[in-house]
Amino acid sequence: MKSRWITTAALLVAVVGLFAAQGQGEVPGKPVFMRMKLDHTQRLLEGLALNDFELIHKEAQQLSILSRDEDWNVFETPEYRQHSLDFRKAADAVAAAADKKNLDGAMLAYMTLTLQCVECHKHVRDVRMAAAPPLDLPFRTVKLTGLAPSF
Ligand code: HEC
Repeated sequence: MKSRWITTAALLVAVVGLFAAQGQGEVPGKPVFMRMKLDHTQRLLEGLALNDFELIHKEAQQLSILSRDEDWNVFETPEYRQHSLDFRKAADAVAAAADKKNLDGAMLAYMTLTLQCVECHKHVRDVRMAAAPPLDLPFRTVKLTGLAPSF
């Protein structure tokens, strides 16, 4: 009887948790997928900080797998493809260093990896800016006549 109560309570907590997560405006799809990168990167850092090679390998591998997902390819520019490639290479390098129990190597590859997060996001912002419709600002002519010396 007691265990049944516990099961019911656990279920209730799970359901409430689900609704709470939805209430926070988490739209299913891309943002959730993209946020997974952050979760894995944070756990990867945990692995590095705690010298846990198994965790390092697992999280780096997950990141590499994510980068192969079709949801990853939001843009089709050559730069986006290059950033994706560099990102995957760095993730694979972290995993390989973890296999060799090489903490310094894993840390170095992790730094390259996080650099790619920022570099690719910069590119994404540039593409977005370029695609945005031009701002409809009122045309203003600046009168310079007053500045010109009058002879
Ligand atoms: C090859 C490009 C690329 C790389 C590398 C990359 N991202 Fe992203 N990231 C994107 C794109 C594209 C989006 C979606 C932007 C949008 O739709 O506004 C995104 C969005 C995100 C978001 C926001 C999700 C949301 O809530 O909307 C987070 C968090 C994120 N990325 C984390 C990371 C982390 C952490 C890394 C590095 C480990 C990383 N990304 C590497 C392309 C990349």
